[in-house]
Amino acid sequence: MAIGVFDSGVGGLSVHHRLVERFPKADFVYLADQANTPYGGRRGEEIVALTRAGCERLFAEGCDLVVLACNTASGIALRRLQQTWLPDYRRELGRPVNVLGIIVPTIEAATGLPWEHEAERRGDKVEKLDILGVFSTPATAASRVYEIEIDKRRQDVAVFSQPCPDLAGLIEEGSPRAALAEAVAGHVRALTTRIGRPPDRAILGCTHYEIVADLFRDALPPGTPLIHQPQATADALARYFERHPEFRQGEGGTRRFLTTGKAGVQSGLVEAFWGGPLSFTPA
Ligand code: DGL
Repeated sequence: MAIGVFDSGVGGLSVHHRLVERFPKADFVYLADQANTPYGGRRGEEIVALTRAGCERLFAEGCDLVVLACNTASGIALRRLQQTWLPDYRRELGRPVNVLGIIVPTIEAATGLPWEHEAERRGDKVEKLDILGVFSTPATAASRVYEIEIDKRRQDVAVFSQPCPDLAGLIEEGSPRAALAEAVAGHVRALTTRIGRPPDRAILGCTHYEIVADLFRDALPPGTPLIHQPQATADALARYFERHPEFRQGEGGTRRFLTTGKAGVQSGLVEAFWGGPLSFTPA
């Protein structure tokens, strides 16, 4: 049995990388929906349908657990799939399967609080001391998931989301670094102008952006802490397996990489991030 990792494209590799380090003996199947990438400009219903199809594909590959290594899918589709599709689908399959997202672990890392924690609202005046910038796809930004969920837990944190419409697509295409650096700097400038000063901390709220995390570091004031989704997700998954031993990880240490798009070797940008050539096979 295996752990499935799903993204619209290569962004989820940043999460996969960390999961493999954390669970070296587990079997992994990575699925990139490159035929339909990017998700960030799509309508909600499309994102739900594509995410569901990706999960079905990974369950058919023998995965027990699918990690949505994609903020757009996690923020827009996950709750709906858990409520309206998974219960019947589990019965149909006759085995325990589940889908987990990456927004919950990221919010836990950003707030320093467990997901179950909700702040008491006392009606006192609140000083928003900590300005948290979230760079994400337009769909994630429009969902306001980070603003809503962080505000429920920490009223001293003010969240400002910056939609970056072009960025996941540029990364997916393996665009030259100069073009990527210009795009990243433009989004950091836009957020800084909107807030009136740079954020105190930032979330790279699209897994593709981890691939160019150094460009965000260069564009933000030196030393701005970044909350890393891959690490937060690996930590959360380890805790999940402790609570749910019924989900099997496999023990062959195999890694398979599938794509709905053009099979073969990925771009130089991905290769540099990955530390070597990476070839996808047809899904
Ligand atoms: N990597 C994804 C995310 O975390 C999706 C990017 C896209 O397809 O637009 O949001």
